[in-house]
Amino acid sequence: MCGIVGIVDKDHPVSPIIHEALQRLEYRGYDSAGIATIYQNAIFMKKDKGKIKEIHEKLDLDKLPGTTGIGHTRWATHGLPSRINAHPHVDCTNKIAVVHNGIIENFLDLREELGKRHTFVSETDTEIIPHLIEEIITKTKCDLRTATKRALQKIRGNYALVIIYVKEPHKLVVARNGSPLVIGIGEKVDYCASDIPALLPFTRKVVLLNDGEMATIQCDEISIETINGAVAVEPKIFDVPWTPEMAQKGGYPHFMLKEIHEQPHALNGTLMIRPEIIDQIAKVLNDSEKVYITAAGTSNHAGLAGKYMLSKLSALRSQAITSSEFQESTVNLIDDGTTILAISQSGETADTLNAVKFAKSNGARIVSITNVMGSTISRLSDLTLYTQAGPEIGVAATKTFIVQLASLALISLQLADIIGKLNGSEIEQFREELLQTPRIIEKTIKKQESLIRDIAYEHANKQNFLFLGRGISTATAMEGSLKLKEVAYIHSEAYPAGESKHGAIALIEPGFPVVFVTPPDETHEKIIGNIMEMKAREATIMSIADEQDYEIQKLSDKTIGIPQTPTPFSPITYVIPLQLFAYYAATKRGYDPDKPRNLAKSVTVL
Ligand code: M6R
Repeated sequence: MCGIVGIVDKDHPVSPIIHEALQRLEYRGYDSAGIATIYQNAIFMKKDKGKIKEIHEKLDLDKLPGTTGIGHTRWATHGLPSRINAHPHVDCTNKIAVVHNGIIENFLDLREELGKRHTFVSETDTEIIPHLIEEIITKTKCDLRTATKRALQKIRGNYALVIIYVKEPHKLVVARNGSPLVIGIGEKVDYCASDIPALLPFTRKVVLLNDGEMATIQCDEISIETINGAVAVEPKIFDVPWTPEMAQKGGYPHFMLKEIHEQPHALNGTLMIRPEIIDQIAKVLNDSEKVYITAAGTSNHAGLAGKYMLSKLSALRSQAITSSEFQESTVNLIDDGTTILAISQSGETADTLNAVKFAKSNGARIVSITNVMGSTISRLSDLTLYTQAGPEIGVAATKTFIVQLASLALISLQLADIIGKLNGSEIEQFREELLQTPRIIEKTIKKQESLIRDIAYEHANKQNFLFLGRGISTATAMEGSLKLKEVAYIHSEAYPAGESKHGAIALIEPGFPVVFVTPPDETHEKIIGNIMEMKAREATIMSIADEQDYEIQKLSDKTIGIPQTPTPFSPITYVIPLQLFAYYAATKRGYDPDKPRNLAKSVTVL
């Protein structure tokens, strides 16, 4: 989704820094970019369609004068990707410039009204903002802060905004309602951006704006207030634990590969999470009449695996519902006996936030698992477990998936302990085994990466894939299929293996690739039957199986062996070959797995 940056510096030109920060936001997904600065009572602006590198080669983004400026990467919603629709947008007098992330819902009405007196050049919803502010300033002669506040009171929708005005050249006015925005504090310089990784090389001191708040940022002064009303809010400065190196490729060709390799480390950190928070969450789940797990995309697959873990280890009845369908599926079902376990890497996914808000408004308690401190989901939650994966830059979620799984495993074990479903020594054994998973991943990558690469290269030209698993491995299969679709653009479907004979099997013809996820758990015998069905139709069988599982090896054309993993935790280790397979299929096909087309790292629209 769109990325925004603003910088106000006492002494130095800001455009090279805005350019660098925009590059750090590229992972969010975008189709055009631009920068505007203030210099000698005028706005200077460069923007275009395309990648930042191409725009920079054409326009030189570092050569805008001025010590105050804003920048933007646009992910098109209203209007095609084009130079005209790229941000920043300006008013008729070219004195006010705005960058925006989100959607203004009542823009058509506002545009019709403003269109009588103002000239619009783009198709965007954003362009109404500079014109509205211009009109308020012209009529009332107020300052930018006051005009912005009045303008925002007329606007409905989601936004993170940064506005500059040539008559107040050392100031950024920012506002947030439903789209992420952080303020960064430096020495004689202040920043704002859509997310923390954009600011890491410049500062690790941040202030998090809440929805419904706006701020006036001057180099040595930040004042925050509510948009509706005159309430001043004390800025709380928060030290970010992430380092700039964590958001660099560190010698790997892509973030996705680096993040796959970082998984043992991310997992170790998460397995060391404070036991108190795990215990508090387990107690809330235990006290609930109903538990719903909700999330989107990869996090949804973690949620699905979590449902199996909670039922297997701690006999907890829960339902996993993809967040975009949550409200429709639970109308009349949520009350104050309900707990929502919401999972979101970014903590900013609009579908998941929407599900959470709906449940909260019906009295539910909210427990969340997220990787980003201070993210919106954490602020909507009664309890939050922060996974310890460090920043994830690749659009494809990898390390955050396995830390979500580990968190769910820890919660399930704690709940089993509380209710006495497992005895002390059983729990200890499971915990010990869980602690072995980072080592198993390390071994798997070391031993199997080149084989996985070869298999991926050999099959990268296939048009369709089927991913099958049973029980908890259905979630692993779904995640493998999603990874292949999103980074290699190969059509694939995932099914519970038993369900495949009710339809998907019709697709099978000689050489059709079917990937089976087959840990040696209670589903093993049945999945062999499903492999036989596919083999009988001459499918090419690829299996992820225990390294000692000679039966599966015999039945499969290719097998990736995984060191012994305790069965309820198998998704944590069995997904690794599937992530690598998707990565190598993507690179073989010539795609950049870090920036898949049409996708954004954090999807902040419904
Ligand atoms: O930040 P979230 O975990 O809420 O994001 C949810 C999905 O948008 C995300 O998992 C998406 O499916 C990824 N691109 C998957 O790799």
